[in-house]
Amino acid sequence: MLNTLTDLEVSKLSGTSVLLRCDLNVPLKEGVITDDGRIQASLPTIKYLLEHGAKVTIMAHLGRPKGERKPELSLAPIAVRLSELLGVNVVFSSSITDAKAHQSELKPGEVLLLENIRYEADETSKEESERQRLAKILATYGEIFVSDGFGAVHRKHASVYDVAILLPSYAGFLVAAEVKVLKQLTENPNRPYGVALGGAKVSDKLAVIENLIEKVDELFIGGGMVFTFLKAQGNEIGKSLVENDQLEVVSKLIARAKEKGVKLHLPTDIVVGPEFSPNAAATVVPVDQIPANQLGLDIGPDTATQYATGIKQCATVFWNGPMGVFEFPQFANGTKVLAKALTEVKGLNVVGGGDSAAAVRTLGFSDSEFGYISTGGGASLEYLEGKELPGIKVLEHK
Ligand code: 3PG
Repeated sequence: MLNTLTDLEVSKLSGTSVLLRCDLNVPLKEGVITDDGRIQASLPTIKYLLEHGAKVTIMAHLGRPKGERKPELSLAPIAVRLSELLGVNVVFSSSITDAKAHQSELKPGEVLLLENIRYEADETSKEESERQRLAKILATYGEIFVSDGFGAVHRKHASVYDVAILLPSYAGFLVAAEVKVLKQLTENPNRPYGVALGGAKVSDKLAVIENLIEKVDELFIGGGMVFTFLKAQGNEIGKSLVENDQLEVVSKLIARAKEKGVKLHLPTDIVVGPEFSPNAAATVVPVDQIPANQLGLDIGPDTATQYATGIKQCATVFWNGPMGVFEFPQFANGTKVLAKALTEVKGLNVVGGGDSAAAVRTLGFSDSEFGYISTGGGASLEYLEGKELPGIKVLEHK
């Protein structure tokens, strides 16, 4: 059982310094936030803490600066957006050393955001002693720790895991909600249970596909990883993305799905283009006729319709990863049709991951059209893989 914020008496928050981990890793284009979904998702816990008189210090990361102070990965624009959304001034501290002075001046109901925690090399270190060195500093910022950065709970990082060992720790509302939905997906889901997976690399998704084949009724494959499947089946795939070292594994997955009676859906047509470019001319071809000088950039319209029909018949659906290069309108149809189908599912439907969530918003859908939009791509996939997530495990009742 998770130790959650609701297990803590509200009166205990008044005047208390709370160290809060959020996932504010939002997409930015030239310093401008293009999707603030993760900031929005962090608000309920922050507001609750502030309303009950806590002094809140937030830790978060942006990108993977690997211990370097990369200016383009500063949380400064996020502090501005957070201030706007909360309607309170967010004090921003550009270094951990200066932060202590800011933190000790915080009054009940005030909030401090620390600069990108991954500017600190110890945050992501594989050496426990190095992570603990940072965690010990961080632990001086709060009397209690609240973990609400769901997108990072699969990381054994100082601000996610090590600090939780040092302070009384609680899951925030977002982490609690995400875990509740993932439990529904893994423990006895209503059937038929369908999972749609997209994204570029099959190697990133292999473990989850292997695990899901044992659990789902229908598996819909899209995105760049499709071409490794198609090649494994003997198709010519032109210049499409392929992972040749995964062909054998993929063939075994196809065989395993058959053995288990899982319907593994692969495209029957593909939208191809001569190059990966926003101006590439799109052509639809049958799956066995991909020209040698073209590459696949989306699932074809027939495939999209078939997938949509299959998905709408499922009672539980999880979707992670775009079906094509949705950022280019001529290759966005597959992702759009799939997202629309998801909104029409009668049972539980979950969009998994920051990228997939940003994709549906970019395509004009609103969050309320879906059953649940998870903020963690990697984290939710690892949960579905059946892996233990360090940032969750550490919050369980001892
Ligand atoms: C994400 O974007 O999935 C989370 O913020 C975690 O980021 P990471 O994959 O760089 O650890």
